[in-house]
Amino acid sequence: MATDPFQLFDDWFAEAKASEPNDAEAMALATADARGRPSVRMVLLKGHGPAGFVFYTNEESAKGAQLAANPRAALLFHWKSLRRQVRIEGSVERVAAADADAYFASRSRD
Ligand SMILES: Cc1cc2nc3c(=O)[nH]c(=O)nc-3n(C[C@H](O)[C@H](O)[C@H](O)COP(=O)(O)O)c2cc1C
Repeated sequence: MATDPFQLFDDWFAEAKASEPNDAEAMALATADARGRPSVRMVLLKGHGPAGFVFYTNEESAKGAQLAANPRAALLFHWKSLRRQVRIEGSVERVAAADADAYFASRSRD
């Protein structure tokens, strides 16, 4: 088993994509507002590596406002078919505008 946590994540994520019935990339994203009140919801992982774990959202959403006020978050994957969870905590920053634009352009109009 890999000892590097990013390699281990790659290995486990590949297993999860093969064994989960759907949405292996779904993860819970926990944020907190400026007063520390927590909030959690599901988002989709759209990229990952030592530079960070990437998701996309509307900056005008509740989570967007919370992250603007308090740019720290926690992520949780739970892959039931593997009986595994992965917990990730850290600071949050915007992806490059070009990356966000490319992702937005890839979404269906609906
Ligand atoms: C499986 C799943 C995946 C989701 N993926 C995303 C996502 O990638 N980005 C996003 O903004 N919302 C996603 N949502 C919707 C969020 O869970 C949430 O309802 C929405 O973003 C509003 O959250 P907020 O009011 O806390 O900002 C997803 C929901 C589910 C159930």
